[in-house]
Amino acid sequence: MKILSIETSADETSISIVDFADSGSLSVLAHIINTQIEMHKEYGGIYPAIAKREHARNVTPLLEEALKKAALWSPGTENLPKEKSQELRALLEREPEMTNELLSLLDSIERPDIDYVAVTNGPGLEPALWIGINFAKALGVAWDIPALPVNHMEGHIASALIPEGAEEQASLHPFEFPALALLVSGGHTELVVINEIGDYKKIGQTRDDAVGEAFDKTARLLGLPYPGGPEISKLAERSRTSLERSSTSLSLPRPMIDTDDYDFSFSGLKTAVRTLVEKQPKLTKQIKANIAKEFQNAAIDVLVSKTRKATEVFGIKTLIIGGGVSANKQLRETFSELLAREYPDIKLLLPNSNVTGDNALMIAIAGYLKIKSSDRIESTATFGAEGNLSL
Ligand code: KG4
Ligand code: ZN
Repeated sequence: MKILSIETSADETSISIVDFADSGSLSVLAHIINTQIEMHKEYGGIYPAIAKREHARNVTPLLEEALKKAALWSPGTENLPKEKSQELRALLEREPEMTNELLSLLDSIERPDIDYVAVTNGPGLEPALWIGINFAKALGVAWDIPALPVNHMEGHIASALIPEGAEEQASLHPFEFPALALLVSGGHTELVVINEIGDYKKIGQTRDDAVGEAFDKTARLLGLPYPGGPEISKLAERSRTSLERSSTSLSLPRPMIDTDDYDFSFSGLKTAVRTLVEKQPKLTKQIKANIAKEFQNAAIDVLVSKTRKATEVFGIKTLIIGGGVSANKQLRETFSELLAREYPDIKLLLPNSNVTGDNALMIAIAGYLKIKSSDRIESTATFGAEGNLSL
């Protein structure tokens, strides 16, 4: 079964094509991520109208590139009958930027051997999500295949199951239930108990800022560019541990670390960073590095504390970490060491570095898992963008 997947929920336009064998093994035939980060940098965050425009501009050339990479590109003429062309024009009425380009591409190639289109339908920026959704629906109509909505957070969970070297035949990482997912991204921070694929129970979440957002805001306070996560992480490595230990004046709070729930709060931490920055007579490189390190320690301490409590209370057998912040080196090392030392029976699944951020491959995997539990396939024609879609 071949799935073509599309992700446009934020500032990455991404398409993947994955071939799943009956045996359960998979081959990634194509996976392309086109990031718009440079365009959003000057706004210090994602600018929704630009995100939408760029997705619309990039998605058709990306489809061509992906089909060629997957060796599914076969030129032909008049492959789009008039009725279909009309149907597609009506479907794409609200996306005039991409209509002509997509229609002429679809007309110029033979129908490729693809069985499903999977697309992120939320959570995310609605104008951006709609580009991917309408594009996916158009492919579904043109090629007479189902278009399937996939939850972006389910994608981040699936990202941790992808084996290394999946270009060749490889199998998804096996794991045992109940699993716990710690999802840490720019828009979300949540703990989800997974009893089986599709059976998710959110037990805690942030009450204000997401942890990635706190990284981004802290970076801005330290004069670092967007996105702040990788910048803070790099800078924190320059912190001198001895200096940091002796300097209690640079300590930050661990919000909600002792509360009797699984919720988080990161906006107070960001405010504490601001106060700390303002208190410094001179914000030297070394002080910045020490603040970055202390911020990272504080954020990770809270994530670890709530996660470890949940693993004990829910008898967790697998811990899955996903979302952009799962790229953080210290976070990865801290969890790896903790599990090896104190919870050797819990399996830890972390995404490979090429799929920590937003990408279409994780959407293909989540789509595949959804198709396998086929009662979960919703009507293909009726779904739309849901900015606040929850697991
Ligand atoms: O999952 P993602 O790519 O997009 C959303 O769905 O939000 O997550 C993006 C977030 C940003 O806030 C970014 O600063 C953060 O992930 N991030 C990191 C690192 N790399 C990306 N945070 C901490 N350390 C990193 N190395
Ligand atoms: Zn994401």
